[in-house]
Formats: sequence, C-alpha cells, structure tokens
Amino acid sequence: MIWQGVIPHYRAYLPVTSKTPIITLKEGNTPLIEATSFNEVIGNDLRIYLKYEGLNPTSSFKDRGMTVAISKSVEDGAQAVMCASTGNTSASAAAYAAKARLRCIVLVPKGEIALGKLAQALMHGAKVLAVDGNFDKALQLVRDITEKHPVHLVNSLNPYRLEGQKTGAFEVIDHLGFAPDYQAMPVGNAGNITAYWKGYKEYYDCGKAERLPKMLGFQAAQAAPIVLGHTIEEPQTVASAIKIGNPASWRAAEKARDESKGLIGYVSDDEILQAYQMLAKLEGLFVEPASAASVAGIIKLNRSGYFKPGSTVVCILTGHGLKDPDTALGEIGGEPITVSASEDEILEYVYEA
Ligand code: F0G
Repeated sequence: MIWQGVIPHYRAYLPVTSKTPIITLKEGNTPLIEATSFNEVIGNDLRIYLKYEGLNPTSSFKDRGMTVAISKSVEDGAQAVMCASTGNTSASAAAYAAKARLRCIVLVPKGEIALGKLAQALMHGAKVLAVDGNFDKALQLVRDITEKHPVHLVNSLNPYRLEGQKTGAFEVIDHLGFAPDYQAMPVGNAGNITAYWKGYKEYYDCGKAERLPKMLGFQAAQAAPIVLGHTIEEPQTVASAIKIGNPASWRAAEKARDESKGLIGYVSDDEILQAYQMLAKLEGLFVEPASAASVAGIIKLNRSGYFKPGSTVVCILTGHGLKDPDTALGEIGGEPITVSASEDEILEYVYEA
C-alpha cells in the first residue's frame, strides 16, 4: 500500500475523527538503517539502528507532530498559528501552515538558527521574527501571547504535537518487529523523548511489543539543564537545535527516564562533532549536529561498559545535515580542489593513495 502519512496510517492511535481535516505532506515511514561500519569502530557486538528522520518532508521529525497539530487547529477554526523555535519547528510549522492556508508566525533566537531552517520558514511564507534573546525567552513570549490572543500555539506544549511524534516509536516497533533494548535521542525542549515514551507504552499496552526500551536522552554539555538539575541562563552548543536552558517538558522527560530505567546524560560539542562526521563518512548519513548527539551518547556510554553485549540500540537521527551547511563546511574545512579541465591532472587524484 502506498504510504499516506502518519494520520491515515496510525489513525486508531491518534485524536482525530471523521470531521478532522487531514493536513499532511505524507510525513513518517522513515527508514531504520542498521549501522554497519561504525559498529566496528565502537568495538562491541551491539546492534545499532539509525532512524533517519531527516527524510521527513521538511527534513526533521517535527513533521510527525505538526501534521496532527495543524489538522486539529484547522478543525478548531484557527486562523493563525505561532511557535518559538531553534529552527526545525518553525520550518515544519511554516510548511504545514502553508498547506492549510493558515497564517504562521515564528519566533527564533536572533542569529542562532541554522541557515537551511531559516530559508525554509521564509520560503513557506511564515512571518519570521528574530528575537533579541534565546529560545527560552522566545518560548515564554509565545506562551504569553497565545494565552491572550486568538493564535494557536504549535510548540510541543500543544499535546497534539506529542501525539503525532509518538508515531516514531510505533514505526521502530513495526520495522524491527520488537522494541529495542535501548532507544537513544537528543533532548532539547524534551518533547520528543516524552512522545516516544508515550508511543512505546501505548504499543506495549495493546500487545504490539513484549517489552519497553530504556530511554536514553542526551543534552549538550553546556546546555544540559536536566542533567544538572537546574535551568541554564545562557546555554551554549554547536548543536543549535538543542541549545535550550529550560525545557518545556522537563518533568515528563524525567518521568520517561525513570519509568524506563534509562538515563539522560550529556555529551561535549567535540563528541557531537566526531559522531557527526562518523555518521556521514562511515554510514552515509548526513545529519545535523543535534542528531549526532544520540550517537555520541551511545559511544560514550559504550566506552564506560554500560551496554550488555548483543543489545539492540535505536538512535533517532532527528534532522537532516543539509539544514546546517555552515557547520558541515566549517568542520570539513570545506573547499573543493580546483583543477584545470585536464585528464592528467584529474587522474592524479583518481590514483591517489
Ligand atoms: N533534534 C533536532 C534536530 C531538533 O530540532 C530538536 C528540537 C531536538 C532534537 C530536540 O527535540 O526539543 O523535543 O527535545 N528542536 C526544537 C525546534 C526545539 O524548535 O526546532 P525536543
């Protein structure tokens, strides 16, 4: 059957009725790819699977939640939607709002979001406001405004977002045929870890899986409020998507961690960037830096002997690498080699050791 998007596919698990207009860009059904080469590098017999969420319509996992949130906003008669974002939520909200012909206003921290994400929000016709302040400040403004004005909030505080995002967990189980031992993901505003845990529990409760995974969340070292147990006034990290000091779903993420007997840890920017390059060079998967935090976390935990040999680990690769070309080129020192249009000169490179 041809894939029709997460609402048609998982309708029975989602808060939609026959009256809900379905606004979809055919999101979901992303591949779960077994890591082959880097298993050798990390030197264990773990079975690592990578869920490549960058293959969603706006190139991040946000589309799973946005299809549900925007569909429900249209059902409820909204004229406008609004969010704060480190980039991906704004790109997704802008695209789905365009499809639904809704006004979309997005607040982004000024100068802090990756180029591709900014281009997306602008191209889809959103009103993009660069706020002089960080993500946490922008989210507070959006909360205050949407409480008082007829504009729907489509951050993950909107429960429909989490309902949609939980379908990622369904897909993991549907693809593997069982729940993994561990599931690793980056944590920013902490909505996605909350959503995945909900999804795993729902599938477990209706007999689609015989066990639950341990949830492993990773924050960036200088933006790790949940790990440290206090808000961070000025979070810093190369992984701009998760540069968040006061996550909205903080308590729910702790609950996912504790109920699943997992953990939320941190990884340094260097560890993130190493995993980022490893994914691109050894697995053929170009992800944005925040997404590499999940793999960096696995590598770090594996070194400390955390995993039982033979365990199955699923890493959620949350966003596509093309979102953030500046970081990619900066890391690679990115210049192509200029050559004349001569066979001989080119052949030197063909036969280079
Ligand atoms: N990975 C990427 C690529 C993200 O864009 C985000 C969050 C996360 C991981 C973390 O997910 O917030 O649910 O814990 N991005 C949000 C945004 C904050 O505005 O695009 P989370």
